[in-house]
Amino acid sequence: MMMNSNMETIANPVVLLEAKNLVKHYSVSQGLFKPKATARALDGISFTLQPGRTLAVVGESGCGKSTLARQITMIEPPTGGELWMDGANIADADHATLKRVRPLVQMVFQNPYASLNPRKKVGQMLEEPLIINTRLSGKERADKAQAMMAKVGLRPEHYGRYPHMFSGGQRQRVAIARALMLDPKVIVADEPVSALDVSIQAQVLNLLMDLQQAGGVAYLFISHNLSVVEHIADDVLVMYLGKTVEHGSKEQVFSRPLHPYTKALLASTPRIDPAQRQQKMMLPGELPSPLAPPPGCSFNNRCPHAIERCRQEVPVLRPFDDRLVACHRLEEIS
Ligand SMILES: Nc1ncnc2c1ncn2[C@@H]1O[C@H](COP(=O)(O)OP(=O)(O)O)[C@@H](O)[C@H]1O
Ligand SMILES: [Mg+2]
Repeated sequence: MMMNSNMETIANPVVLLEAKNLVKHYSVSQGLFKPKATARALDGISFTLQPGRTLAVVGESGCGKSTLARQITMIEPPTGGELWMDGANIADADHATLKRVRPLVQMVFQNPYASLNPRKKVGQMLEEPLIINTRLSGKERADKAQAMMAKVGLRPEHYGRYPHMFSGGQRQRVAIARALMLDPKVIVADEPVSALDVSIQAQVLNLLMDLQQAGGVAYLFISHNLSVVEHIADDVLVMYLGKTVEHGSKEQVFSRPLHPYTKALLASTPRIDPAQRQQKMMLPGELPSPLAPPPGCSFNNRCPHAIERCRQEVPVLRPFDDRLVACHRLEEIS
């Protein structure tokens, strides 16, 4: 966990990736003859990723999680801010730098039914990144693919099979294997178990954790489901309308959530441990549109503690109780 990103970078040389005030705005058409509007999908997010650690990004649908994933995986360039990876600021890197850095960050998508090419066999899919990025021989590529299949719990005979012959959990194993083929330093997993049966979710999460222990890869793990996150995260970043509202260790955030939004999210998550069950708290209303966020704190129209100040002044993210929180009223409500 970082309190001061600059200090952390200097003090800790094993920061793999650092986002500094990352912004992504989309220009959205409102119809003919109408001025374009700006969707503030990502509105200033900062964090660091370290080897072998998992940062979970949580928040309701529409809060900007997938937009963040697209910036980190360099699918889109951000509108503003910095994104440091392997000594380069990717936010304004040239083509050659992007080409070098891109393989270091790989992605696992939510839907393993849509993310695997139905016309390609598993072996082909796993070897494709090697063909593009390495000079390995056919035999070497096949050996690597087989070794990776074993690591993710697939059997040797799966090598020649097509995706439609697999269950959802097996498909996600193929997607994870493919993401790992180039030995990335970071994997961005966007809701990787949300499309799977609950009985399969734990297996895939355990696989991700085993692979991390064995290889030291860092995860940016995106989920709207806090019970999934509790299983896998080291640190948790809670997002609301493109901004961080709370960022701390999993233990801190889960055992004593401070931001009213984090409290509401946790209260609506089923907890196994009765001691951890929070008093039920309703989250009224819907996430506002990023085209027209409320003035002041973007959570003010749904917050039970909102006062006039919250409707006027944007709260800054500040250190409080060993984590970062953006709320004017922390002293009174915590
Ligand atoms: N290409 C785009 N153009 C315009 N608006 C977008 C685009 N991509 C995402 N958005 C908007 O940004 C917000 C965040 O979306 P997204 O990152 O998909 O959220 P999440 O993954 O948390 O559900 C949404 O309001 C969405 O409509
Ligand atoms: Mg999403």
